[in-house]
Amino acid sequence: MRSFVALLTPVLAAATPIGIIGGSDTPKPDEISIVSASASGNGCPQGTVTSDLSPDRKVITFGFDAFQVYTGPGTKQSDKSKNCQLHLNLKYPGGFQFAIVESTYHGYAQLEAGVTGTFYSTYYFSQDAAATTTTRTSIDGGGIWADGQVYTKQDQVPTASVIWSPCGATGILNVNNRIALTSSNSSASGQISDDDATVAFTQQVHVSWQACK
Ligand SMILES: *[C@@H]1O[C@H](CO)[C@@H](O)[C@H](O)[C@H]1NC(C)=O
Repeated sequence: MRSFVALLTPVLAAATPIGIIGGSDTPKPDEISIVSASASGNGCPQGTVTSDLSPDRKVITFGFDAFQVYTGPGTKQSDKSKNCQLHLNLKYPGGFQFAIVESTYHGYAQLEAGVTGTFYSTYYFSQDAAATTTTRTSIDGGGIWADGQVYTKQDQVPTASVIWSPCGATGILNVNNRIALTSSNSSASGQISDDDATVAFTQQVHVSWQACK
């Protein structure tokens, strides 16, 4: 996978904690689990994001009310690009962990000919921020997109970690999502929204020590 780090300027905004619904069950001690989550960025201002955590704490779904970009007559330069960074606080059991992070994004795109929409997602762990994986999906306007269509973006990012403490450790997975519109025709209009994002952990291998008391 290619990296487009230079295109992704981190947004220095305070993360908005999100009240998590669900997650009442106790996660299994030998599995990676999502402890809490937050979101930050101009695509997800406070009060526009919801989240829902699965009872096993392996899948989280975010809903976005304001993650939308626009181009064309009457729009501003700042309407063309928005980002929303997801921060997932994770609890790791001790040992070697290999997990696939699977993300699915749904939204709506309506793009006239000459307008291109691009959706970038950059995945990195706070403890190893230099190692990033970026996925990119582009839609060229015109044809079926001129009338508007629902789209789906799916990512699969492999991750591996070794936790030396038998009691496990915590970590933060960040997913910086950015949508940007470019246009070769200033009178053509376009819009893209990202309505939801689901991030799931599928753990493949784990080696656990004795349960921590
Ligand atoms: C630019 O976009 C407008 C609006 O969609 C369209 O009417 C016009 O034909 C386009 N111009 C070119 C050169 O494609």
